Amino acid sequence: MLGRRSERAVLDRLLSDVRAGVSRVLVVRGEAGVGKSALLGYATESAAGLRILRAVGVQSEMELAFAALHQLCVPLLDRMDQLPEPQRRALATVFGLAPGPAPDRFMVGLAVLSLISDLAENEPALVVVDDAQWLDTATAQTLGFVARRLDADAVGVLFGAREVGIELHGLPELELDGLPDDEARALLGSAVGFLLDEPIRDRLVAETGGNPLALLELPRGLTATQLAGGFGLHGGQGLPGRIEQSFIRQADALPAPTRQLLLVAAAEPVGDPVLVRRAADQLGIETAFAEIDGLLSLGERVTFRHPLVRSALYGSASAAERRAAHLALAEATDSSSDPDRRAWHLAAAAIGPDEDVAIELERSADRAQARGGFAAAAAFWQRAVALTRNPARRTDRALAGAQASLQAGAFRTALALLATAEAGTLDALGRARVDQLRAEAAFAQQRGRDAPGLLLRAAQTFESLDVRLARDTYLDAWSAALFAGRLAGAVGLREVSRAAATAPRPDTAPRASDVLLDGLSLVIAGERDRAVPLLTRAATAFGGPDITVEEVLRWGWLATAAAATAWDFESCVATATRQVEIARGAGALAVLAVGVNVLGQVVALAGDFAEASSLRAEADAVREATGTHVLPYGALVLSALRGRADHAFPLVEDTIARATAEGQGTAAQYARWAKAVILNALGRHDEALLWATSAGEDTPELFVSSWALSELVEAAARSGRPREAAAALARLQEKTANTDELWGRGLEARARALVHEGDDAERAYGQAIELLASTRLRPDLARAHLLYGEWLRRQSRRGDARTQLRTAYDMFATIGMEAFADRARRELQATGETVRRRADASSAREELTPQERQIALLVRDGLSNPEVGARLFLSPRTVEWHLRKIFDKLSISSRRQLRDALPAAEAATR
Ligand SMILES: Nc1ncnc2c1ncn2[C@@H]1O[C@H](COP(=O)(O)OP(=O)(O)OP(=O)(O)O)[C@@H](O)[C@H]1O
Ligand SMILES: [Mg+2]
Repeated sequence: MLGRRSERAVLDRLLSDVRAGVSRVLVVRGEAGVGKSALLGYATESAAGLRILRAVGVQSEMELAFAALHQLCVPLLDRMDQLPEPQRRALATVFGLAPGPAPDRFMVGLAVLSLISDLAENEPALVVVDDAQWLDTATAQTLGFVARRLDADAVGVLFGAREVGIELHGLPELELDGLPDDEARALLGSAVGFLLDEPIRDRLVAETGGNPLALLELPRGLTATQLAGGFGLHGGQGLPGRIEQSFIRQADALPAPTRQLLLVAAAEPVGDPVLVRRAADQLGIETAFAEIDGLLSLGERVTFRHPLVRSALYGSASAAERRAAHLALAEATDSSSDPDRRAWHLAAAAIGPDEDVAIELERSADRAQARGGFAAAAAFWQRAVALTRNPARRTDRALAGAQASLQAGAFRTALALLATAEAGTLDALGRARVDQLRAEAAFAQQRGRDAPGLLLRAAQTFESLDVRLARDTYLDAWSAALFAGRLAGAVGLREVSRAAATAPRPDTAPRASDVLLDGLSLVIAGERDRAVPLLTRAATAFGGPDITVEEVLRWGWLATAAAATAWDFESCVATATRQVEIARGAGALAVLAVGVNVLGQVVALAGDFAEASSLRAEADAVREATGTHVLPYGALVLSALRGRADHAFPLVEDTIARATAEGQGTAAQYARWAKAVILNALGRHDEALLWATSAGEDTPELFVSSWALSELVEAAARSGRPREAAAALARLQEKTANTDELWGRGLEARARALVHEGDDAERAYGQAIELLASTRLRPDLARAHLLYGEWLRRQSRRGDARTQLRTAYDMFATIGMEAFADRARRELQATGETVRRRADASSAREELTPQERQIALLVRDGLSNPEVGARLFLSPRTVEWHLRKIFDKLSISSRRQLRDALPAAEAATR
């Protein structure tokens, strides 16, 4: 290898970092023939002591899901059993080792991350992926995920790529240019067997831009006189094209049967010599491989001298020649062991529409989909569409392809296929499915205002076709409308609820989700009395043992919303816990992204800030890893109650900005409520009033507005606006009337106490405290003590006031509600009692980064490194690395000591 001194130095450094236990990723990028593979070869040779894992992308129109990943992972498969179960299952499914539901693609990424990280525990590893521009989509997505999430692992990842697709976008790159002139001259000299005149040599070097492949290939077979004319690269064709021309020229000199054999090999992407031979026999080609000197070599695999040889040969053949080659390859391919490749060759051999082949492709699509290869499935569908004449079937296939593309996260392809479907003849069902898929795409990209209308229209169309499908779609529409909240377009909760209320019902016994839909629609219709029993029933079912996994995954979070609307906090806990457990177990990360936010709110409301904080970290990790657009509901509730304005206000502002931009009205409502809570805590009641008023206006039938009304009463009462306080109380009472639930009754009593005077007030405070004391809602209970204490002080009942305020202060301090604790402390001081701020035991912990803190907490709770890694999308090795730093900072030496270093109630601040 000539030159490349600085590039080699970069790789040397990379390797030494890896040896030192730090992960490094590098994409070596540059045009064809510039020397990427040569440089990767250098790295591999220099990687003594490193375990090498390899994969190569293969140029082909064929998508074979996870093909390259499988190649990479074969040496690691015996470690699969050590993976956490959802990861093991995901990998087994995509590699076709065990049947199972199509896994989440991020779970596959996590599994590969764990495998490689685990390997690197014992020996540093170098992952070398060449020709990355040709990786199948599923592999590229997985490796991109792994490359981004390696951290403290002794793993290097090297990609060679002509260009970088979306999957590897943003990874560190090393851009490779042609060789500098003197090295280029030397290389040219080695390629040309005779001495070149200096001006001619320099011209050739200039024309090739120092591209080594061009320097080696273009002069081949040319005489000195011919070379004197130069390559003429400045005109028309680019460099790769010229190199291909040169290969074609070389091939053209070969006898016809040899050329034909070369074409068959070029049409066969895997390089299976037996298959190529068999296909050649089909075509009656008697030439042996050995005769094809130079352009192709034969070992275990058929290998072209350079990838451009393959593309040159394939590209220069006529359409008929190519079809003949593919047909022969299809016939040579075993239909039982390799049906997908066979189908693909058949498709490439088809002249026009061909239903038999389309059916084969359809089967391949199903197989790919079953293994989670959605991009591959979409490609098969797309091909099938092209071969389908029957308009109805064409449409069906386009829809199936659109669905698969959506699941692969390929929105552009999905929309193109939907357009194809729409261009054909669509019956009502088809039109509804187009709407549904379009809504899904809109919802996945941003949970904004477009989806509800599309879903509503689909649901209405389904009504006359499939009652159950219609109702399921209504529930999805409701869900989308709830995300959109006040920012919904023409179709919001009201429109969806109205339509759902009159939708036909199934003859069979209603499922929990049917009850859920009825309850939710009724509550928006203003029929709270009829709605609440249904909401409670649905929520209880979703938190109970008989609910199906599918229902929990799809609508679990709506069940929690139903429970909150019915003030049933126990069901909030049960439904939210269940959804997170099921989503974690199933590896359903898009669901988990919402689920951890819901559960995070619930545990924050219960005053378990440590757990809420853990869930917040998990929410961040899932969101970041999967790129979902779920806004930080859980973090908002936690921040509101914790009351650190410097952290919380930016979160509120950021959420409102993003929510407004994306049309996610409910998130903005949460944020405004959060701001009101903090301002109330800080005693800035005038301002709190504005925020609470605004948060209380959105979707008044549901729970966030109830919470906002409760804040509004406090803000109004404390800022001397009794009339506004009374009005807000009346509105709150509309939603607590007829409830037996302690949560609703407790908040109502607390609000009533703020509005009333004298004995009425005192009685109400007593009720509020008694009611809330029987719930898990400790923050709300503490606030009742605070308000009561403040009231007592104003009544000049100092002793009684102190008792309440001390209780409040102790609770706030224990829970970690800092702003409220300050307010309680100030009130206590006003009664003449001096309170020392509780010694903050967290001073040592203050040095822990947020991520370290979460890791410490999860480990304290008994999770293993792989389990923590699975939760936070880190490799186990990275967890271990953080843990060592944590031990160091806390001056402890074992996992068990974390229990004392991080007392349950005080841990996890952020
Ligand atoms: N620095 C070098 N010194 C000598 N020969 C080189 C050098 N770099 C590349 N070559 C040779 O040039 C040819 C093309 O290089 P290589 O195959 O690495 O290109 P590439 O960038 O991987 O191209 P492609 O994108 O087509 O895969 C090879 O025959 C290689 O051995
Ligand atoms: Mg290469």
